[in-house]
Amino acid sequence: MHTTVGIIGGGPSGLLLARLLHTAGIDSVLLERRDRAYVEQRQRAGILEQATVDALRACGAGARLDAEGMVHDGIELRFDRRAHRVDFPSLADGRRVTVYAQTEVVKDLIALQLAEGGPLLFEADVHAVEGADTDRPLIRYTHEGQEQTLTCDYVVGCDGFHGVARNAVPEHLRTTYERVYPYSWLGILADAPPAADELIYAHSDRGFALASMRSPSVSRHYLQVPNGTDPADWPDDRIWDELDARFALDADPGWRLKRGPVTAKSVLPMRSHVTEPMAYGRVLLAGDAAHIVPPTGAKGLNLAAADVIVLARALTHWHTTGSTDLLESYSDTCLRRVWRAEHFSYFMTTTLHTAPDQPPFETRLQLSQLDRIATSHHAAAELAENYTGLPLATEPPA
Ligand code: APR
Ligand code: PHB
Repeated sequence: MHTTVGIIGGGPSGLLLARLLHTAGIDSVLLERRDRAYVEQRQRAGILEQATVDALRACGAGARLDAEGMVHDGIELRFDRRAHRVDFPSLADGRRVTVYAQTEVVKDLIALQLAEGGPLLFEADVHAVEGADTDRPLIRYTHEGQEQTLTCDYVVGCDGFHGVARNAVPEHLRTTYERVYPYSWLGILADAPPAADELIYAHSDRGFALASMRSPSVSRHYLQVPNGTDPADWPDDRIWDELDARFALDADPGWRLKRGPVTAKSVLPMRSHVTEPMAYGRVLLAGDAAHIVPPTGAKGLNLAAADVIVLARALTHWHTTGSTDLLESYSDTCLRRVWRAEHFSYFMTTTLHTAPDQPPFETRLQLSQLDRIATSHHAAAELAENYTGLPLATEPPA
């Protein structure tokens, strides 16, 4: 089998890329190791920047997003037992975010691609990518018990943090940057109305907490917990009591989350990771295959979308003109924005969490920084611009 673009991985990056290429009239084959139900049910964050929303609409996946997505104009920060709202449109040039779960984005993209796109194979496990530095790179995979080969003009590795495509970049040309955090998140889904109209990020002397949502009747909340925590040690009542304690306000002592049955519970480790470069020969990397951010800034899905938007433009330019200029600058173009999002995610994470044995000096610095955001237009604008998403760069750095 031969295709123009072979895509490894059917997470948000691979699916959105397949749709953007289909819209541009470029053939692709998408190979995903897991089955459809697994991919559609994997719980991830759900905050979409405007550029991500625009790309979903442009490839035909806007209908349910526009009907069910919740547009948010800000977030609330809680620290020192007080609340401060960060208003996005007034601080970031009218920008807002849309709350729409990644699971729903993935379902919408899969349904569209199966209805009117190129081949999308589930349970197709890629074990090797060969010939990155030739004109005909190839993908070896197993599907329905058979060994298969797919030759391609370009291969895109959208196969996430544990993928195989990254290995196509020779080890001596690859640099990895990484930070693992000394805490994790315990995340719950609950059949309960959200705590408020917007998300609440809390710094407290008991650790970080986040109140998010999936719909007007489903909440998604998180608690900072030690690495290695077993969710079984957290019965529902303990979770709700701890969330309420971390969100407590001196000015409103009766404030409580709305409780309801907890329908899912899991522990997520937190890491930052970047692999450079994001391309070698005719193999290109996008999304979690090239970079991971801790979830505190909600950047993971948006960074993945930004990569594939830049990549779809570069592949379209090559397909229509024969020029590989934009493909050659793809890695540099993306990495500039990737590092900005890495910094923002690191900043949000280290400003809001309390590390084990954190010196009191650092806690005072965190509270001083949060107070600065609450009192300075410039400091709040810096947060709002990064949270709502920086402009998509289409050119490599000068
Ligand atoms: N063969 C085929 N598919 C593979 C292989 C392989 N060898 N290895 C991994 N995959 C698939 C995984 O099963 C997964 O569905 O690649 C997909 C990668 O998807 P994601 O991990 O969701 O990565 P990405 O699409 O880049 O999305 C980034 O997901 O992790 C979150 O927070 C992150 O929101 C961000 C988004
Ligand atoms: C989520 O709703 O899952 C979510 C929201 C915001 C974040 C992280 C996760 O920063």
